[in-house]
Amino acid sequence: MLIKERLFTPGPVPLPPQVVKALGQQIIHHRTPEFTQIFLDTRKNLQKLLKTERDVLMFASSGTGAMEAAVTNFFRKGDRVLVINAGKFGQRWREIASTYELKLIDYEIEWGKTYDREKILEIVGEFPDIKGIFVQHSETSTTTLHDVRYLAEVSNKLEDCILVVDGITSVGVYEVYPEEIGIDVLVTGSQKALMLPPGLSVMYYSEKAEKRLSRSNLPKYYLDVPKEAKKQAKGQTAYTPAINLIIALNESLKLILDEGVENLAKRHEIMAKATREAVQELGLKLLSESPANSATGVYAPAGIDADDLRKQLLKTGFRVAGGQDHLKGKIFRIAHMGYFDFMDVIQVIAGLEITLYKIGMNIELGKGVKKAQEVILAETNF
Ligand SMILES: Cc1ncc(COP(=O)(O)O)c(C=O)c1O
Repeated sequence: MLIKERLFTPGPVPLPPQVVKALGQQIIHHRTPEFTQIFLDTRKNLQKLLKTERDVLMFASSGTGAMEAAVTNFFRKGDRVLVINAGKFGQRWREIASTYELKLIDYEIEWGKTYDREKILEIVGEFPDIKGIFVQHSETSTTTLHDVRYLAEVSNKLEDCILVVDGITSVGVYEVYPEEIGIDVLVTGSQKALMLPPGLSVMYYSEKAEKRLSRSNLPKYYLDVPKEAKKQAKGQTAYTPAINLIIALNESLKLILDEGVENLAKRHEIMAKATREAVQELGLKLLSESPANSATGVYAPAGIDADDLRKQLLKTGFRVAGGQDHLKGKIFRIAHMGYFDFMDVIQVIAGLEITLYKIGMNIELGKGVKKAQEVILAETNF
């Protein structure tokens, strides 16, 4: 029997046909006027996406490369920094910062929760010399949204602090305008809501962060912001760029800008709401107390291993992600970022209902689907 595999993981995500077509083209050489023009167009479109005229750099690396570059380019050994550590990727900030011997305040938060404002004030009150605050806008491992606006306010009140945001699963999901919000360094990656294969990362940095570049004394060679900034402003890169990914990014950015970032954010909000309400209607519990619109983390029913549930769900054609570390086997995560629409949500909920039914749960078929349909009808003008 034919069963189509549908990717509902929070990265990589499905690719739009326009992107697939761009990726399928014969390669061009990067030291040519043709590529320079494409590079500069892509850069301009990234600036539009982030509503900025400042430098937006592209690196041939996965998202973690840009995270590391954010540490090595804007900090000095021994700088005191605060890490909002609320999941797998918060841990990654901690690991990178400690690799480069920054002085770490590790604010560890129970997975599925966001930070406490009072606690932040307490920390910055005790350590006013903090040079950086690191956070995930959307912590993918726990499908949790952290309020970056508040952190920007706090950071700006400190004497010399920059806010460094991992927007890997928030750019292309929300209206992430770093200048307006007050984010100093923002990084994102290609295989999420930018609707591309992995291998490309993006970095924005503010004027305040730029002043840090000459002060930084951490080792770096490949991901060197001043070196790249100089080259990229002229439509070139210091080393061989991810040529086809950049060409494809230009296509996905066209799709994003045609839809409009505000409309795109609304679409993601509705898809997330429909998913959350539908799974709850089926008697399941959400993982996050502050759920993000990029993906929804859900606890498996009591007594059921979430990974067994995922295997059963795959039989209906839906590949969703599992939990990481201590959440392995306990939760599953359904993505709805990037190239997804409302009917995709209905489909995955229908697959989940069949799965729950097959594993012996006492559920009413169609109940979750109906809920998702109701949310979509209430929130759209279909
Ligand atoms: C929030 C977040 N940060 C960082 C990463 C790491 O990115 P990459 O795997 O592209 O290096 C991911 C990937 O899942 C992520 O979701």
